[in-house]
Amino acid sequence: MARNGWPPGPIRTPRAVLPLALGREPLSYLRRLVRTYGDVAHITAAGEHIVVLSDPRMVRDVLVTHQRNFRKGRGLERARKLLGNGLLTSEGEEHIRQRRLIQPAFHKERVASYATAMTEYAIRVHSRWTDGATLDVAEEMMRLTLGVVARTLFDADIEAQARNVGEALSLVLNSFWTTMLPFADLLEKLPIPLLKKGKEARAQLDAIIYGLIAERRKQPGDRGDLLSMLLLAQDEEQGGRGMSDAQVRDEAMTIFLAGHETTANALSWTWFLLSGAPDVEQSLHDEIDRVLGGRMPTVADLPHLPVVEQVVTEAMRLYPPAWLIGRRAIGEYQVGGYTLPPRTIVLISPYVIHRDARFFAEPDRFMPSRWTPEFRQGLVPFAYVPFGGGTRRCIGESFAWMELALVTATIAQRWRLRLVPGHPVVTQPLVTLRMKHGLRMTAERRPDLPSPDSRSPDLRSPDLRSPGLRRRGASAPPHAE
Ligand code: HEM
Repeated sequence: MARNGWPPGPIRTPRAVLPLALGREPLSYLRRLVRTYGDVAHITAAGEHIVVLSDPRMVRDVLVTHQRNFRKGRGLERARKLLGNGLLTSEGEEHIRQRRLIQPAFHKERVASYATAMTEYAIRVHSRWTDGATLDVAEEMMRLTLGVVARTLFDADIEAQARNVGEALSLVLNSFWTTMLPFADLLEKLPIPLLKKGKEARAQLDAIIYGLIAERRKQPGDRGDLLSMLLLAQDEEQGGRGMSDAQVRDEAMTIFLAGHETTANALSWTWFLLSGAPDVEQSLHDEIDRVLGGRMPTVADLPHLPVVEQVVTEAMRLYPPAWLIGRRAIGEYQVGGYTLPPRTIVLISPYVIHRDARFFAEPDRFMPSRWTPEFRQGLVPFAYVPFGGGTRRCIGESFAWMELALVTATIAQRWRLRLVPGHPVVTQPLVTLRMKHGLRMTAERRPDLPSPDSRSPDLRSPDLRSPGLRRRGASAPPHAE
């Protein structure tokens, strides 16, 4: 028992087994919980005490100020079976050391060099579409982001590989997400065939990844991909030695999995929201046509595409792919006048906080134009946290922002996507915020623009060497470190 009692919350445990404890509709359950009990709400399930925190200052304290008092928890042990000991699954000092080692692979300049792969894959995916065709856009986005991560990570074309690689990967992904749920240890008690299949698929992927590593070790050097960076990474504290093959494999697998589904979800939600907001879509098209004049977007264009940025920022506000961030307290923890005992699970829901009217007027409305520089500046720190915060903040954040903007611009330049009438769009909050029934949309081809040569000359020559990325600049979405 907490020394001065637990924070308020429902007396009855909703379910015996978590994560079902949050109910069949965890998103609305969490919103109701916070509305009823406030910024510090308590639930219990399967003998665990869970406290949901929804005040941005408390979020900052857990993720940043007092992050040493928290671990990611036991779910990690399950994830380790699939991911090994990569960045996502390490804790404490080991995590900090690994993060330092991997960081160079995500430096701005390096990330900017992946832009071409992002636009090329977007073109590859949309060039298969035909005018008037019905697509599962969620599947298409998954295929797209998988292609991007395979190319940027391994300089490999996954699509060109045997079909079972793709299948293996999606099996691993599915079982991975199951194991990453904050209460994954309880899931182990359930007979989940997916986990077994995931194991087999992992063995296949391992063989491929180790094969690639062995090839690279024979011909060392920088091939411009993430794998090269991992192989080149030196750990000075450990006497300047590089990573072992097993370490490289674990990191590669981690980035492969963490960098794929989240981005695909964010893109799918973006298309869904645009389809219901023709005015917003029109201003997006106008901007893209004016700035790009029909050519492929590059990193240098991004500062000139504020509407694109506003649209993806707002989509991730309404549907943050990482809708729940979980921690387990190591020692006692004081919050909101309560003293939580060690081992309390703390949950932070970006979904709930992003829809709080204290921070966002008309919180359920898709309104990209709210993201003016003044609004960003005035926004309460940690009221917008799609990438988390502190030492565990998403390492792929600038990668993701760039991919979201480039893919949105590339596709919206050529296509208008319309939700198929009657298709149910239902949230499926697993570890990432998926769409339960996919996203059936009709692709309408937009008319071609006049030839690119008639464009103004200053917007022509794309220069990939000058990363115009200003993600952390004045108009970047607000996150505090
Ligand atoms: C829209 C896309 C993305 C979203 C919303 C997202 C969100 C997040 C969040 C919230 C965390 C922190 C989780 C926690 O604190 O428990 C995280 C961690 C992580 N993300 Fe992302 N992510 C995205 C894309 C990516 C990409 C593209 C990559 C890699 C290419 C990536 C790699 C990682 C890794 C390796 C971690 C673990 C970092 C650590 O523990 O130090 N993510 N992500």
